[in-house]
Amino acid sequence: MLNTVSISGTPGTGKTDVSKALVEKTGYELLDVNEVVKNSEEIEFVKDEERNTLSVDIGSMRKVLEEKVVDKTVLEGHLSHHHGSDMIIVLRCSPEELEERLKSRDWSEKKIRENVESEVIDVILQEAVNMHGDKVIEVDTTGKNSEEVAQEIQEILEGKKELEEYRPGTVEWSKEYLYG
Ligand SMILES: Nc1ncnc2c1ncn2[C@@H]1O[C@H](COP(=O)(O)OP(=O)(O)OP(=O)(O)O)[C@@H](O)[C@H]1O
Ligand SMILES: [Mg+2]
Repeated sequence: MLNTVSISGTPGTGKTDVSKALVEKTGYELLDVNEVVKNSEEIEFVKDEERNTLSVDIGSMRKVLEEKVVDKTVLEGHLSHHHGSDMIIVLRCSPEELEERLKSRDWSEKKIRENVESEVIDVILQEAVNMHGDKVIEVDTTGKNSEEVAQEIQEILEGKKELEEYRPGTVEWSKEYLYG
């Protein structure tokens, strides 16, 4: 089994739920990167009031994560791919389903649309691949519950799955989203 694994992806793809289920199954430690950012005095962040998001100083965050990450850790959060984990898993979700999931949050239409669009154009996946190349895989969560996704990831970590099926580029939303 790998030592450290990052679970990243667009908000609403299920990182938190899936990671909780995954650590229950595997006994890994769980590190919630958003919590680390909020609680560390060494990491600078600015609150973007309009978007209601945090703009985080990535350099200092990486330094703090280096210190915090112990053996056998799952790092979860939309910034977790900035850590140099042994494997970076980007969760994906179809635009239609993601929109439904995000609608149950108390978010503005604009914020929901921005996040769905960033899922469509692979923002986090591209960022992760640019940083970590073939350590990155993507796992589609569409039509699956978090328990099923966690099970699939466990099998990937145990080497029971063909990694080729999860290579970046496997998931493709833009055609369907743009042309119906
Ligand atoms: N595989 C899934 N299928 C359907 N719904 C899911 C799935 N995984 C999570 N959900 C639901 O979707 C919502 C978003 O899940 P979750 O909070 O885990 O996302 P997240 O990626 O951690 O988002 P954030 O980046 O905002 O923390 C929750 O309501 C959760 O119950
Ligand atoms: Mg979360």
